[in-house]
Amino acid sequence: MKVIKAANYVDLSKKAAALIAAQIIRDPSSVLGLATGSTPVGVYSELAELCGQGVIDFACVTTVNLDEYCGLPAEHPQSYAQFMRQKLFDHVNIAKSNTHLPDGMAKDAEVECLRYERLIEGLGGIDLQLLGIGRNGHIGFNEPGESFAPGTHQTGLAKDTLDANSRFFGPGEKVPTQAFSMGIGTIMRARSILLIASGSDKTWALDKTINGPVTPQVPASVLQFHRDVTVIYCD
Ligand code: PGA
Repeated sequence: MKVIKAANYVDLSKKAAALIAAQIIRDPSSVLGLATGSTPVGVYSELAELCGQGVIDFACVTTVNLDEYCGLPAEHPQSYAQFMRQKLFDHVNIAKSNTHLPDGMAKDAEVECLRYERLIEGLGGIDLQLLGIGRNGHIGFNEPGESFAPGTHQTGLAKDTLDANSRFFGPGEKVPTQAFSMGIGTIMRARSILLIASGSDKTWALDKTINGPVTPQVPASVLQFHRDVTVIYCD
């Protein structure tokens, strides 16, 4: 694991965007695994800027997102599909047909999870997976538990995650309690991984991820077993 301390959030965003840009420059047909949450917002705006300057080109890039809330249509303001459009897709020259997320409205969860896993496989796997990390050490919606999920699955959100995510929902709006998420196995099959964390509320999770025992109680700790992980963090 390469661990890089950034000076601040802007520095973190620029460094992470530079690594993603390098991936796109090396392979213009890259498959990028993307994440939502507040941490990647700065990375996405840096990528949009690099694209505007002509440094990177998304024309042949494909993206697959980590997760999506169950029960929210793609047009819902709080859906991750909408988040990705607002923060990245609408600002770069990516073909919308090359952007993929699980379908939060899928009727049959099992079929949807299989479809998503096969889609990723069919794309030849993920070249670079961007990850945030939850205060409890979750990655995607792989919450602390008794085992590591091998593939895309439907899952309940931990209380801590529901509390953290409620800030994005208006008063009276219910935070969905279920989501589709890539599994730990899906994430570990990515050829390279870039994990970003900002703020002191992530210190515990980050310390356990980097230094702690590998345990499904801290899902991100499994990244110690991956051969190409870069962690960029700031206080
Ligand atoms: P955050 O979420 O970037 O909003 O802190 C990260 C995560 O929960 O994975």
